[in-house]
Amino acid sequence: MPSFTKSAAILLGLVAGRVACSKDRCTSFATSISIPNTKIIAHNYLPNGTSIFLPGTAESCYGPDPTANATANLCRLALVVSTSSSSKVQVEAWLPDPQSWNGRLLATGDGGIGGCIDYVTMQNGAELGFAAFGTNAGHNGSVGYEFFLNKPQVINDFGHRAIHVEAEVGKELVRQYYRTKATKNYYAGCSTGGRQGFQNAYLYPEDFDGLLLGSPAIDWLHVVASKGIIARRIGWPHLDSPAYIRPEQWAAIVEAQIRQLDPLDGVVDGIIDEPTKLRFDPESLVCGTGALNSSMCLSPLQVESVRRAYEPIASASGQIVYPAFELGSNTDVFSANQENGTAQLGYTTLQDFWRGAVYNNSNWTPDHFRVSDMDFALRINPGQVNADDTDLSRFYRRGGKIMSYHGRNDETVTSALSEQFFAGVQRALHLSLDEIHDFYRLFFIPGLHHCSGGPGAWSIGNVLLYPYDKRLLDPEHNALVALVEWVEKGRTPKTLIGTKYENDDVGGTILGQRTYCPYPMVSKWNGVGDTRLATSWKCIFPGR
Ligand SMILES: *[C@@H]1O[C@H](CO)[C@@H](O)[C@H](O)[C@H]1NC(C)=O
Ligand SMILES: *[C@@H]1O[C@H](CO)[C@@H](O)[C@H](O)[C@H]1NC(C)=O
Ligand SMILES: *[C@@H]1O[C@H](CO)[C@@H](O)[C@H](O)[C@H]1NC(C)=O
Ligand SMILES: *[C@@H]1O[C@H](CO)[C@@H](O)[C@H](O)[C@H]1NC(C)=O
Repeated sequence: MPSFTKSAAILLGLVAGRVACSKDRCTSFATSISIPNTKIIAHNYLPNGTSIFLPGTAESCYGPDPTANATANLCRLALVVSTSSSSKVQVEAWLPDPQSWNGRLLATGDGGIGGCIDYVTMQNGAELGFAAFGTNAGHNGSVGYEFFLNKPQVINDFGHRAIHVEAEVGKELVRQYYRTKATKNYYAGCSTGGRQGFQNAYLYPEDFDGLLLGSPAIDWLHVVASKGIIARRIGWPHLDSPAYIRPEQWAAIVEAQIRQLDPLDGVVDGIIDEPTKLRFDPESLVCGTGALNSSMCLSPLQVESVRRAYEPIASASGQIVYPAFELGSNTDVFSANQENGTAQLGYTTLQDFWRGAVYNNSNWTPDHFRVSDMDFALRINPGQVNADDTDLSRFYRRGGKIMSYHGRNDETVTSALSEQFFAGVQRALHLSLDEIHDFYRLFFIPGLHHCSGGPGAWSIGNVLLYPYDKRLLDPEHNALVALVEWVEKGRTPKTLIGTKYENDDVGGTILGQRTYCPYPMVSKWNGVGDTRLATSWKCIFPGR
């Protein structure tokens, strides 16, 4: 017992000494940093487990009392970087103690219309030992338009600049704090964060060695505009129109799609594996067929509305510019469109962006949204927000790696967009499948909603979700770990195993697992094993 006490005391003394030393180091660092155009607005040393209060964070980001958790002993800094005379980007830095730093940098992206630092992914990063960074993309808050109104430089930050600024400032902070460069630089983002990552690879290919890009909203203006186009196709905002489909009808329509289409993939599990390959005939739901009861069934005019809702979107010149809405997915983005009997789109990004950045008009509403409103936005492309450039040759040539995933049950960004983009990159770079797989792998996850959630075994170490399952922090089950192994050890991610938890409580009781495959391979049940076991699913080329 005495020796135990003694060594514990020595250990505690050492730890206390180390904390004090790191704390001093953090303080003197924060007061001595010199990075052009950069101002420190907050700094503190936070022992692992401390709650980080985040005053000044917009309520639309994390509610009224935002906090994050220090997931390592951290030197935390909040900085504001001027990006022009009329714009500034906030950057957050979490620097683990030198002895627990894994030598790497992890930058993170944003969601929706930006304006919120991704503390969620930063928590995962710092816990794994990364120097973790985040940015608000140049404005505060995830709803609203005033921050963009007549502020083209603020739109530039959101559109294409903030991640590059985060990368440059992040690298410099790492160099000054640890007195060495990071061995490798990574980026992780989902949705808008996925768009930012692809765009960064195109514009600033030297920023990162590896990108983890979930559910990417690559063709952002079409993604956002599509919600207005589809709402109009179902009769909105004319709630009394005989062609209009009421919000409560949509759940029944989607359920009917799943009943019809789910069995075609060979496993009846409520999941349509490959919705982009299927067609759905709404005629089957017309009143009188008995498919839906009298309060949910469709009139002939409504059948036409539903049919149009699932057609791809074309520009005024007739060119298809955005794929069809995902069959079997929740339709709220266009069907949650009334409040107390008044037409109002629940999906606010359309009104916000067209008000603040496209038409510069505070009174604009999407009530009369038309294809010409979409085409106009594409023509001016505010802040270069659309990131559909497929020529990633510079990122390819520098040896960068892209690990991407996309849910096949994505209501916000249809997964066909990722298929098209992958094919576009392959064409632009003239690569064989083996060659493109050498730097860019895309995993489709049937039964994954937008970024996280859904009926499938969707948990793969998703961006924007904390915490990771500590039992599954390996390259087979965690996409970020897989990316690091790929970049640093050349270990190619051949599959990715997704996990389904009871109540979707990541890290809790595991209900089942499934193996996912790099596109164009698909995950197929082997026909004999328990469908809840990853080993019962194999990767095959479709049609073979
Ligand atoms: C965003 O909030 C931070 C913290 O309160 C503040 O320092 C910064 O100036 C704000 N940015 C903008 C563009 O208003
Ligand atoms: C609105 O302002 C943005 C820059 O803030 C500009 O690119 C765009 O052309 C303007 N739109 C109109 C309709 O003038
Ligand atoms: C009609 O079907 C829906 C589900 O599709 C159900 O919620 C509703 O209760 C049913 N209404 C009647 C009158 O049976
Ligand atoms: C709708 O009604 C609810 C409850 O009466 C109210 O809280 C809400 O503010 C109303 N919304 C609008 C847009 O009027």
